[in-house]
Amino acid sequence: MKNPFKPTAGARPPLVIGREEIRQDIAESVENGAGAPGLLAIFSGPRGIGKTVMLGSVEDEAIEHGWIVISETAIPGLVRRIDAAVRAASGEFVDQPSGRRITGITLGPVGVQTQLADVEHRHWRHPLTELLKRLRDHGTGLMITIDEIHAIDRVDLVEVAAVIQHMIREDLPIALMLAGLPKAVDDLLNDEVSTFLRRAEKYDLHKATLSDVAAALRATFDEGSISISELHVRHLAEATGGYPFLIQLVGYHVWSQAVRNGGRVTAESLEAGVEKAKRRMGATVLQSAYNSLSDIDKSYLLAMAVDDGPSKTSVIAERLGVSPVYAGQYRLRLLAAGAIEVVGHGYVDFAMPTFREFLRASPAFDSQAHLLSDQ
Ligand SMILES: Nc1ncnc2c1ncn2[C@@H]1O[C@H](COP(=O)(O)OP(=O)(O)OP(=O)(O)O)[C@@H](O)[C@H]1O
Ligand SMILES: [Mg+2]
Repeated sequence: MKNPFKPTAGARPPLVIGREEIRQDIAESVENGAGAPGLLAIFSGPRGIGKTVMLGSVEDEAIEHGWIVISETAIPGLVRRIDAAVRAASGEFVDQPSGRRITGITLGPVGVQTQLADVEHRHWRHPLTELLKRLRDHGTGLMITIDEIHAIDRVDLVEVAAVIQHMIREDLPIALMLAGLPKAVDDLLNDEVSTFLRRAEKYDLHKATLSDVAAALRATFDEGSISISELHVRHLAEATGGYPFLIQLVGYHVWSQAVRNGGRVTAESLEAGVEKAKRRMGATVLQSAYNSLSDIDKSYLLAMAVDDGPSKTSVIAERLGVSPVYAGQYRLRLLAAGAIEVVGHGYVDFAMPTFREFLRASPAFDSQAHLLSDQ
């Protein structure tokens, strides 16, 4: 059997852990159609927590209910692509006199060029209205998902918000599902242009509980006839910290060690697999998260890595030799980037497991250590 774990951004895991309640909320709203609360939702959480996978799950839910899905990411040209997809769907389902039977589909990146060639000079909200009326007659609707919403162009945001709001007011069956990094999503919601998004259901995605992780690992290993003891399953679950990306990495590497070992997870293969998973975690997610930061933000993280647990923000400011207000600015940027999270009043911690170890092992940590030591 092929290795079922998927340690790749956006890839569907063998089991989607700990999201059942959210999935049911959305399923119920899709079933109830226009006006249901879960049809306007925002998923937020740090890097690698499973936002893109969550959007994939709700898209599946919509498709199962016969809805049409437009699956997008907030990179430049967003409105142009949604516009083209809406026209394509409208051409398919409204303009065909024979009336094609409507079944759930996903519209990938449509042939934008062709679509723009026959641009009607009407705004896309007109074909959208017609499409939604048609879908409503069939008891279905249209779901638009937009990933990486923190990167959206304001002009695009204003337009999407205005059109969707109009459709909701007309009681038409439209769903808008967004996903992005937590602090950046909060900023977006506080922005005057998007007051309507404040009515969205907000789902903060968290790490999975270790017992859910253990149950999922058990089921996946059993399915592949890889033998593993209860004790080892528990060790593995702990090594993931419940963080989805690490669950996939740990699962993947322990599985592959076990296969080399005749299909059994031994203490040695477990250790080797976990070690490799942590190295990959450092080389991929953590390194790229770290590289994308400014030198000043990096120094904030290095100052945090001195602590064995959550860091007190006032102590970090002292270590950096700057005022608390100034340090607060770095802190906000790191929160927006999804690198750290607030844990209780005045404390922050790394949003991703093994970040501390990764930083401690970096040459920059040693070279800053003498500046940072406050013991
Ligand atoms: N609920 C889950 N249970 C188990 N594994 C999951 C779950 N959600 C996501 N994963 C796995 O975690 C990894 C990261 O998922 P995903 O790409 O959806 O995260 P993300 O929050 O979108 O990250 P980013 O902010 O970097 O885009 C993938 O390998 C995916 O298979
Ligand atoms: Mg993502």
